[in-house]
Amino acid sequence: MTMNLLEQIDRTKLPQHVAFIMDGNGRWAKKRGMIRLFGHKNGVKTVKEILNAAGDLGIRYVTVYAFSTENWSRPADEVSGIMGLLSTAIDDEIENMMKNGVRVKMIGEMDRLPKYLREKVAYVIERTKDNTKLDFIVALSYSGRWDIVESARKIARDCVEGKISPDDICDSMFSHYLSTDGTPDPELMIRTSGESRISNFLLYQLAYSELYFTDVLWPDFSREELYKALISYQNRERRFGKTSEQVKK
Ligand code: IPE
Ligand code: IPE
Ligand code: MG
Repeated sequence: MTMNLLEQIDRTKLPQHVAFIMDGNGRWAKKRGMIRLFGHKNGVKTVKEILNAAGDLGIRYVTVYAFSTENWSRPADEVSGIMGLLSTAIDDEIENMMKNGVRVKMIGEMDRLPKYLREKVAYVIERTKDNTKLDFIVALSYSGRWDIVESARKIARDCVEGKISPDDICDSMFSHYLSTDGTPDPELMIRTSGESRISNFLLYQLAYSELYFTDVLWPDFSREELYKALISYQNRERRFGKTSEQVKK
């Protein structure tokens, strides 16, 4: 089965960047009569598997939505449980990431994280900064609107300070002010658990991404599920506003 799916993937036409909304951990746990945190714990295992699969395929950038700005409104014990899991995951995975050439980046409002996690995050970013095989971008305390608003704020500041003029502002300049500066936009965005929405993820960056929605809950998402998404992606015609005839040329 795995071989069959893998064989259907054209290795020369892979996306460079795949982004994930990792959703469904809570429902996965509930189905098993367990607390939500059990689902998040199993979700971390999926992240490892997907990172390995992406690395094996040679995908250069992987972004995961780990915690949204809106998720701060969840029950306090779930929030602190997730923060603890993230911290443990960094400890457990840092050597593996060094071995696999993974460079970790974080996007989001880091100021809102508990101090111990903020320090650990800073450490893993620093430790992995020279790795070059795969950029693993974790959206943590992130929201797409926050990203755009921050960008606008920085641009306004640079205008006031005379570094740039309002006439210089264009979409490519705008994207340099976003937290994702240096990373190409995702060609493919995958959301698990059956929800068909963006939930304040990469609003600016997803402008022309192919969207793939699956009912599979994140802890059940696997290498094979990733292959299915990539096959679906490769069977689409990306027209970018042009006609089908134009893009076939
Ligand atoms: C996604 O799973 C993980 C986070 C948002 C942190 P959920 O916790 O949203 O799981 P469901 O949607 O309740 O099943
Ligand atoms: C989106 O999932 C955020 C993350 C996966 C981190 P949610 O479960 O929070 O999204 P909604 O509330 O269903 O839109
Ligand atoms: Mg959810």
